[in-house]
Order: sequence, then structure tokens, then C-alpha cells
Amino acid sequence: MTDYLIAPSILAADFARLGEEVDSVLAAGADVVHFDVMDNHYVPNLTIGPMVCKALRNYGVTAPIDVHLMVKPVDRIIGDFIEAGATYITFHPEGSEHIDRSLAMIKEGGCKAGLVFNPATSLAHVEHVMDKLDMILLMSVNPGFGGQKFIPQTLEKLRQARKLIDQSGLDIRLEIDGGVGVGNIREIAQAGADTFVAGSAIFGKEDYKAVIDAMRAELAQ
Ligand code: DX5
Ligand code: ZN
Repeated sequence: MTDYLIAPSILAADFARLGEEVDSVLAAGADVVHFDVMDNHYVPNLTIGPMVCKALRNYGVTAPIDVHLMVKPVDRIIGDFIEAGATYITFHPEGSEHIDRSLAMIKEGGCKAGLVFNPATSLAHVEHVMDKLDMILLMSVNPGFGGQKFIPQTLEKLRQARKLIDQSGLDIRLEIDGGVGVGNIREIAQAGADTFVAGSAIFGKEDYKAVIDAMRAELAQ
């Protein structure tokens, strides 16, 4: 039985009450906090940085924090997120001059490392660094904003990524990010994902537990 993880994206939370929002979503059954970092350079939006990650840790959040860096250049911010208490740090190959070096920095800092692939970016980048990866994250929207529509071609890419992971025999999570909700989570899981980011589908509703329960019910079928 696959161990599925639900990772609400706090991009869609009420930032004025972030600590409470994270508490609520974890109490509602979320496994991981997905933390979207945008720099208004690699992507056309600006969000939150290591200070906010650290603030969540100081507030008492002990759940894994999955830091998704939509940032270029990525290297100079990695150390700050390690210090700030990140659990996973993932970045886009386009954001790094030396992918192997960025992955090594993350691992040496004691965090789990992952690469993120935009809808049109080839999975070829994983080939020579597979043994350094704890996660492969496939974007099912173009990065920069929440609330976009799932790009269906990503299902085939998920199948390819699942095959690569299974063939490697390595313990690598396959995460999906963008346009995920109760209505499509089952087919996304069938295509091979085991970790599901959902922003607007969860924070856009009053009852976070009802949404997460409905997602788990879909995954159990
Ligand atoms: C998009 C972000 C996503 C986003 C997902 O660039 O990486 O994590 O918050 O939001 P929804 O689930 O609303 O598509
Ligand atoms: Zn994200």
C-alpha cells in the first residue's frame, strides 16, 4: 500500500494568520507543509523566505516543511533554509548553475533534496543525479501562481517518472504540484504520484478536514 502524503500549499493560506492556518491544516490531517518561495525573477511573483520558515518553527510547527524554491540563483538561499528548519528543499534545474553542487549543499545541510520539473522541462536532468534525490516534483501548472488548471499531459510525465524511480530501486518520493483537488487526485495517484500539493483546493474551502478526508477517500479506492 503506497504511503500517500498530502501537502497543502500555504500560498493559498491567509498570510495574516499563517501560524493558525498551518495548525488548522495539520489538525485536519495534512502530512507536510508545502512552502512556495518565489523571487519575482525566476517566476513572476514574490512570496516568502527563510524568515517565515523559521517563524513557523519557532511558533511550534514540527511537521515536515517542504520548501519549493522557485528562485534563481538558488545556491545562496539554500543555507538560509537549512538553518530555518526546512525538511525538504527542492529547486528547478533552471535555477541552478551546478545542479549536483546545489543538491550536495542541501544534503550536507541535513535536508532532503529534490528537483522540480516545469510542464515543458524534460526529465533528462535526473539521469546523473538520481542517487542524490529524495524527491522528484512535477509541476502540473507553470510555476508562479496558485489556482491554475492541472495540465493533463503531466499524467504521462508522471508515468515516466514513476518508471524511472521504480527502475532505480531508490527511495524517492514523486510529488505533484498545481491544480490538484478531490476531483483528479485519484487519476494522479494512478499515474504514479505519492505526494500531493494542493493550495486552493484546501485553503479555498471552509472545512479543511472535509477536503483532506475526501482526498484520502479518493486515494483509498
Ligand atoms: C505554483 C506553486 C504551487 C501552488 C499550487 O507555482 O508551486 O504550490 O501553490 O496551488 P494550487 O493547488 O492552487 O494549484
Ligand atoms: Zn509549489
